[in-house]
Order: sequence, then C-alpha cells, then structure tokens
Amino acid sequence: METLVAPLPAYELESTGLAPTYRYDLRTTPPDVFEDVSLTDWEGLSWEALGRPYLVDNYSRHRASWERAHGEAMPVPVQWEHFNRRFHALFAADHDTASTALRAAFGEHLKRLDVGGMREVIEDLVQLTIWNNVHRVQDAVWDPRGKRALFEGLDVAKPEILFLGAADGYEAMQLLAMYGGHAVLVDYDDFCRTERFGNFPAAYPFLGHDPATGQARIYRRQDFDVDFEVADIRDLNYGREFDIVLSVGLIEHFPDTHKPLVFDFHRRFLKPGGYAVMTTPRRQFRSKLFYLAMGELMNYGYRELMDVRQLGRYAYENGFEILRAGYIKAHNGVITRAR
Ligand SMILES: C[S@@+](CC[C@H](N)C(=O)[O-])C[C@H]1O[C@@H](n2cnc3c(N)ncnc32)[C@H](O)[C@@H]1O
Repeated sequence: METLVAPLPAYELESTGLAPTYRYDLRTTPPDVFEDVSLTDWEGLSWEALGRPYLVDNYSRHRASWERAHGEAMPVPVQWEHFNRRFHALFAADHDTASTALRAAFGEHLKRLDVGGMREVIEDLVQLTIWNNVHRVQDAVWDPRGKRALFEGLDVAKPEILFLGAADGYEAMQLLAMYGGHAVLVDYDDFCRTERFGNFPAAYPFLGHDPATGQARIYRRQDFDVDFEVADIRDLNYGREFDIVLSVGLIEHFPDTHKPLVFDFHRRFLKPGGYAVMTTPRRQFRSKLFYLAMGELMNYGYRELMDVRQLGRYAYENGFEILRAGYIKAHNGVITRAR
C-alpha cells in the first residue's frame, strides 16, 4: 500500500518567518549577531573584579512535592528527567492552539467560580506567552544566526563532534550543516534520544554550506550523520578522537568545586589541536526575569547565570586558550583549545 508522506515546506534562502512551533531564519544579512570580546586579557581578570556568577534559586514547587513524597532529595538525573519533559512540552506546543485551549479552560473555571483553577490557567498562559515570545518570536533559544556567527571560521573539514549533555542536539546539527562530518550526542536521559532529538522537527531548516560548491545550502535533521549515546558523561570511554567537543548550557550546572571536572570532560576526548566550544546562559536582566517566571517549569537543580568574561576566565584557569569569545542573544560563547 502506498504511504503518503507530507512534503516538507520549501524555505527560501534569506527568508525568516514563523512556523507553528519555531521561527526559521535563513538570513545572512544583516550580519549574524555576535558581540565579540575575544581581545580580553584573560590572565589579567581577577575574581575580585569579576564577582561570582548569579545563582538562580527559585526552584520548582514540583521538586519540593516530589521530595516530600519520596522522603529524599531529588537525584540530579531525575531533576533532568523532569526538566527535559517540561522543556520539550514547551518546544512542542503549537502556540495558537494551546493558547485557545487555555482561554477556553479559563472560561470553564470562571463559570464554576473556581479561583484555584483560574489561577493555574493564568500561570500556564503567562508561561506560554513568555515562551512564545522568547523562543518563537525572538528566537533567543536556538538563535541560529548567533550560533552560526559563533561557530564561523573553525579550521576543520568533516569534523568528528562530541556533544556533552546534548538534549535536542541542535548545536551539533548547526555545526554539521556548516562543516559536514559526524556527531555523537551524549545525554543520560533517554527521553532526549527518543523525543527531544528523536522528534526534532523534520522540517526545521539549518543553513550551512554545500562542500561541493561552497554555496549556501539548507539541511534538515535527517541529512545529518548522528549517533546518540545514552550515557553519563563521566562514564565515556573515548580516546582523543574528536575535532570538536561541544556543550551548551552544561557548565553553569556545576558549582565551583566541580568546575575543574566539567572542563576536564571537554579536554579529555579532544584530538591535539581540537576545539572545545562552550556556551552558558548570560547574566542579564531579561534572563533573570525569564528564569524567575519559568522557574516552576525549569528550575529543578543548580543553575548559574554568568557573563562571558566569567565563562572565559573559568575556561582559562582550567587550562584552555580562548580563541574567540562573545555574546549571542541569550548565551555567552567561547571557542577554545587546550593549552
Ligand atoms: C540544560 S540541558 C542543556 C541545554 C540544552 N541546550 C537544552 O535544550 O535543554 C543539559 C542536558 O545535559 C544532560 N546532562 C546533565 N548532566 C549530565 C551527565 N552527567 N551526563 C549526561 N548528560 C547530562 C541533561 O539530561 C540535559 O538534557
């Protein structure tokens, strides 16, 4: 029997627009947004002058109720299981449909004068509205233009890429669109393999280059050569075999006592001369507001917000040379090599 597969939408180069769950952005002009602070004296920075990262500590009430029910502190891998399911639900929500359903639910609670129900729906509506604005309208989470600008100019051809704490694998796919090669995504939450990466939108367009012609080319997730390993990054058995080791939003979950360990994970599987690419969320007013409003959904464990000079200083004092550093929309990014 013939199976009908819906054709993928044909996105045009240099266009941007809204799909039901994301923005696509294939513009190369005006330039991709990257505020470059590479010319920093990393050795000269002192922690007295920098201050320490900002700690996000409005934890989810859901974590507290889990801990009461289980009589123990929520283990870190379980924190991530909750985070990933709730974060994925946001990525998967069709804003217009979800918003209509919530408004209808509010009307029902109103008819019954159910104040508690109305309060819950309002909380959901606020979170949905913030998410739609941050992810879909501003494109500050995937931020393809910022990431392309950050990743530009690496001296690699068909790299082997290792993505630590890969979640949906987005940034490894952006690197594959730009440089070709093969990526290993590592995350200890199997839900990331089956859902966050497994059901990543098939139509989403990644802008990269065609290695045969050097011209711009649009790729989709199914074009990429990717393996997903469900494992703890502390248990990996690779040799020094990767051209790029990448993490996005991982380092800020390790307090200072564990920072040497997390930087060591970025170094130990790199080929000599390979790149460690690391990003962390920015310490800025709008990010603090975002985590304040979304804490119930997202704050299950330790999380810092830092600025790029703090990230660069951590990398420098943990044995990395900073080749490039700067801000994109919501994250700091550094391109480094082991010293
Ligand atoms: C904050 S997320 C990274 C942000 C990511 N870009 C996203 O969209 O969620 C961190 C990811 O790292 C994973 N992770 C954290 N610690 C890990 C560990 N020790 N080993 C493997 N995966 C880990 C979590 O399961 C989670 O999916």
